Amino acid sequence: MATSSRFAFFLFCLSLLYSTALSDLVISRVDRRVENGGNEIASEVLLAFPNMQAKNLAAIKTFYSEGKGKEKGSSVSLPTTLVEPKGMPQELTFYSVSLPKGLGKGGAITLDVLSVFTHSLQPFPEEITQADVQLVLYQDSAYYLSPYKVKMQTLGIRLPGGRVESYTKHPNSKLVDSEIRYGPFEKLPAFSYSPIVLHFENNNPFAVAHELLREIEISHWGNVQVTEHYTLVHGGALTKGGFSRLDYQARPAIRGVSSFNHLIFRLPPRAHSIYYRDEIGNISTSHLWGDSRKTQLEIEPRFPIFGGWQTSFTVGYGLPLQDFLFKLDGKYMLNITFGSPMDEVVIDNLIVKIVLPEGSKGIFAAVPFPTKQAEEIKYSHLDIVGRPVLVLEKNNVVPEDNIYFQVYYQFSKISLLREPMMLISGFFLLFVACIVYIHTDMSISKSSASYIAKIQSEEVQATVQQVLNIINQCLAVHDKLEASLRDLSRTGDVQSCKTLRRTADAQLKELVKELKPLTTFLHHSPQASHILPKVEELIAKEKDLQDKMMLKHSTVVDCFEKKYSGKDIENRIAPQQQKLTVLRQEMDDLHEFLDEI
Ligand SMILES: *[C@@H]1O[C@H](CO)[C@@H](O)[C@H](O)[C@H]1NC(C)=O
Ligand SMILES: *[C@@H]1O[C@H](CO)[C@@H](O)[C@H](O)[C@H]1NC(C)=O
Repeated sequence: MATSSRFAFFLFCLSLLYSTALSDLVISRVDRRVENGGNEIASEVLLAFPNMQAKNLAAIKTFYSEGKGKEKGSSVSLPTTLVEPKGMPQELTFYSVSLPKGLGKGGAITLDVLSVFTHSLQPFPEEITQADVQLVLYQDSAYYLSPYKVKMQTLGIRLPGGRVESYTKHPNSKLVDSEIRYGPFEKLPAFSYSPIVLHFENNNPFAVAHELLREIEISHWGNVQVTEHYTLVHGGALTKGGFSRLDYQARPAIRGVSSFNHLIFRLPPRAHSIYYRDEIGNISTSHLWGDSRKTQLEIEPRFPIFGGWQTSFTVGYGLPLQDFLFKLDGKYMLNITFGSPMDEVVIDNLIVKIVLPEGSKGIFAAVPFPTKQAEEIKYSHLDIVGRPVLVLEKNNVVPEDNIYFQVYYQFSKISLLREPMMLISGFFLLFVACIVYIHTDMSISKSSASYIAKIQSEEVQATVQQVLNIINQCLAVHDKLEASLRDLSRTGDVQSCKTLRRTADAQLKELVKELKPLTTFLHHSPQASHILPKVEELIAKEKDLQDKMMLKHSTVVDCFEKKYSGKDIENRIAPQQQKLTVLRQEMDDLHEFLDEI
C-alpha cells in the first residue's frame, strides 16, 4: 500500500505540575492545567511522539491563553521546536514548548496543543469497487504518551460518522454517537503506552497533492500573480473492477460514494483574472462567488476522482499588490499565505517560488516553520539579468500550514523604470527607422507630394535650359550680324549684308516666339517663382540687345553706303557699342547663374 492517507487532528490541553527534576513533571490531566510542584522555575514543556507518528507530523502549534472560562484572554501562540533532549528513548521524537513566563513552585498553566498528522489512516480493504464505501484503520495509544507523570487523562476520538467495524476495547472505553472515549485514567507513570486500533467508515475526499508548485510573481506595477500547478491523487483505497460512468451518473451518492468531483478554493478577497485549466485546456465548469472577505472558487475536474486516480491542473489568479506588499524602513515586505488555498488537501511536496522584480537585493524569508530554501533566476520578456526567485520547499503540508510568511527585499524604483525605458528607447528607434524608411520611400512613391514637387522642379530646370538654349541661338544670330559687318568692311557687299539682316531679324522673331510658351509655363509653376525674375531679366536684355544690335547694324550699313570713313563710322557707333558690350556681359552673368540651378 503506497499511500495510507488523510490527516488526523489532535487537539489536547495539557495541564502540568512541575517539580525539581524533569522526570518529576506531572501532567495532572490531559485537558487540564500545568502546575509547578517543585522549587525551581520551569521555562519549557516537552511533547513526545513515537517516531512512526512523528514522521507524518505536518503541523504543530501550541497556544496559551491567560485566565479561565469566560475571562479567557486572547490566545497566544508559543514557540514549539524540535529538540533532542539527553537521556530520552531513541524511539521518540520531542518538541519543546517555551512557556510565556517561568512557572514557579505550585504555579499552573493551561496549554492547547494542536498537532496534525498526514497519512495516518490506512484504507482497509486496500481495494474497493466503485460502489463500495471506504473503510480505514487508525492506530494510536489509549494513553497520552508523556515524558511526565499524568495525574488524570481522557481520550476522545471523533469519527466522521457511518459504520464502525471494530475498535480496541478497554476497561473504560465506550462508543457514544460517533465518538469513541477512553478513560478517565488516573496516576499514570511517564511514557505509559497502550496500543489501540480503530476500523471505521470514512468517505471523506482523500485529496493528496503529490506535488504542488505555487509561483507568486510580484510586479511593482500593481499585481501579484499566483499560479498553482497541482498533481492531485485520491489517496484512499484503490479502485478495482472498472468504472461505469453510467452507474455513477445515475446514482453518484451510491455508485461513487468514496469519490470526489469538486474542489473548493478559498482565495483572498479581490482576487481577479481567475482561471482553471488542465492539459487539455480551459475548464469552464467552475463557480465563483465572493464578498469583501474572501473569494470562493469551486471547480469540477473533468471526471470524478476515485481511489488511486490522478488529475493534474493549474489554477491561476491575480491579487492587488497593495494588499500584500508593504514598505518598511526602506525595505519591501511581502506578507502572503504559504500553503494551498484549497480546502482539505494534503500536500506531500510543496514548492513555493517567489519571483521578485529584476534588480531586487537583500532577499530573505521569515517562515514560521522549517523549510528548505534556495535561490534561482527566472527570465521573462525584457529581462537582462533575470528575476531573483526565492524557492521554499516543505514536505507534508496541511491546511494548518496555510499561514502568513514574509519575504523581505530591497528594490529601487529606478529599476522599475528600466523596462519601460527599454521599451521607450526601443519604440523611439523603431519610429526613427520608420521615419528614415518613409523618407526614403518619398523619392519612390509616385503619389507623394514631394515626388510631385521633385518632378515639377525638374520640369522647371528643363524649361530654364530650353530658355538658355534659345538665348544661345539668339546670341549666335548676333554673332553672325557682327561677322556680316566685318565682311562688309572687307568686301563692300552692302546687299548681302542687308539680306543677312533681314534673315537674322526673322530668325530672332522666330526664337522670341519660341520663348513665349516657356515663360508662360514658368509663370504657372510655383517651383520657378525664385528664378523667374532672372529668366525675365535675361529675356528683356536679349530684346534690348536685339534692338541695339539692329540699330548698330543699320547705322554701320547706312554709313558705309554714304561712304563715311572707317574712323567716322566707329565714332558714330561707339556709344551703342559700349552699351552692347555691357549688355552681353550682363547676359553672360545671368546665363551662368541660371545654368547652375
Ligand atoms: C476559461 O473559462 C472561463 C469560465 O470558467 C472563462 O471566463 C474564460 O474566459 C475562459 N478562458 C479562456 C482562455 O478560454
Ligand atoms: C501579515 O498579514 C496578516 C493578515 O493580514 C496579519 O495578521 C499579519 O500580522 C501580517 N504579518 C506581518 C509581519 O505584517
